[in-house]
Amino acid sequence: MKNSAQRTWGGRFTTGPTAAVQQFTESVSFDWRLYRQDIAGSIAHAQGLAKAGLITKAEAAKITRGLNAIQREIDTGKFHWDSALEDVHMNIETALVKKIGAAGKKLHTARSRNDQVATDLSLWVCDTAVDLIEQLGQLQLALVNLAEANQNVIIPGYTHLQRAQPVAFAHHCLAYVEMFERDLLRFAMTCGNAGRNSPLGSGAIAGSTLRLDRAAIAKQLGFSGVTQNSMDAVSNRDFVLDFLYAAAVTGTHLSRLAEDLILWSSAEFGFITISDAYTTGSSLMPQKKNPDICELTRGKTGRLYGNLVAVLTMLKGLPLTYNRDMQEDKEPLFDSADTLLATLRVVADMLRHIKVNRSRCETAAGDPLLLATDLVDFLVKNGTPFREAHHIIGALVAESEKTGIALPKLAGKKYGRAAEKVFDVHRALAARKTVGAPSPENIRAQITRWKKLLR
Ligand code: ARG
Repeated sequence: MKNSAQRTWGGRFTTGPTAAVQQFTESVSFDWRLYRQDIAGSIAHAQGLAKAGLITKAEAAKITRGLNAIQREIDTGKFHWDSALEDVHMNIETALVKKIGAAGKKLHTARSRNDQVATDLSLWVCDTAVDLIEQLGQLQLALVNLAEANQNVIIPGYTHLQRAQPVAFAHHCLAYVEMFERDLLRFAMTCGNAGRNSPLGSGAIAGSTLRLDRAAIAKQLGFSGVTQNSMDAVSNRDFVLDFLYAAAVTGTHLSRLAEDLILWSSAEFGFITISDAYTTGSSLMPQKKNPDICELTRGKTGRLYGNLVAVLTMLKGLPLTYNRDMQEDKEPLFDSADTLLATLRVVADMLRHIKVNRSRCETAAGDPLLLATDLVDFLVKNGTPFREAHHIIGALVAESEKTGIALPKLAGKKYGRAAEKVFDVHRALAARKTVGAPSPENIRAQITRWKKLLR
């Protein structure tokens, strides 16, 4: 047990916490990850203190040098983290005092860990959102390349997992590119919100009697402005929720992609082959090749949802302002970031090593029933009202099923050669020219658009 006087807050205590309490309350084992943001925040704060005349310029310079040295020690793994010092903030402050002496003891002037942690965490959320945006872009690029390499492959599109209408394989890939673009924008928004107003200077709850130029300090840290209510500032974790929500939605999209790939790589579909390097075997059945990457991607989505719900629940009953409960925001946040970054990386790699089995795709897409709707359109073009045409072709499909005569043949018999031609799948796709539809020209244009955007 550490002597209470050695703790930064030890003044009013006769004894330090028990070992169990220390272990229960410490956060440095995970919040050490905030050290870069913490040090940047402290350097800006020290300069603010000097500008306000609360410390000398020489002291600010000493603090800055000391913090930079500490950062290098942490970067190179030479720093000793002490769980008796609770968290990243106190570890760094204590190390600074040890390194530079008296000046270090002035750093925490007009600051509390409450505004400090809110600032650090805002910066971390923004930095990490930027990393995720980069990775999302890489994943999009992998999908665009897969689309481009298989531009002319046709597959059935599904609704209710029943064959619906033919689409280009590329169109299916590009649907995911759209989803990931929205995710990317969500992370950009998350960073925009987190980086708007700096909480630093809000103190523990009510600012400080010592006046600092908060705006200048904020600007140095890259924020656009400062928070306007100190109580809101120290109790706000909306930016953590934004991040966790963005991660959860991205997880949904990744999970749906994973599910499509699992289905497509099954013997029943056989549309794709996932490279051996991105699958695993069975300990019992020698023939097995399992899409584990996809399954783990789907499975990990549960964690992303769980982390969002954990932080929402942690916050919901808290009276203003800071409560120690809020320390529980970090592990879910870090877990979602780590999970998502790792998943994005491995899924992008896997996509770069997927083989599309054209003949299996085309056999499936050659099912003439996929073009029953086009036959309805054919009747509509010849003047039949849509509802009537739908009914007529429905009956023709039933007849085809009953007699075993293929639909194109029946259509030809009833409506002539032109109706039979409706079942040419390439013609059918070429005719889908409306914006957003999968005609080959549209798809080529989309691939070009994305490649330009992603460059
Ligand atoms: N480790 C704390 C957290 O993550 C830092 C803030 C602590 N503030 C306090 N007054 N105990 O929330």
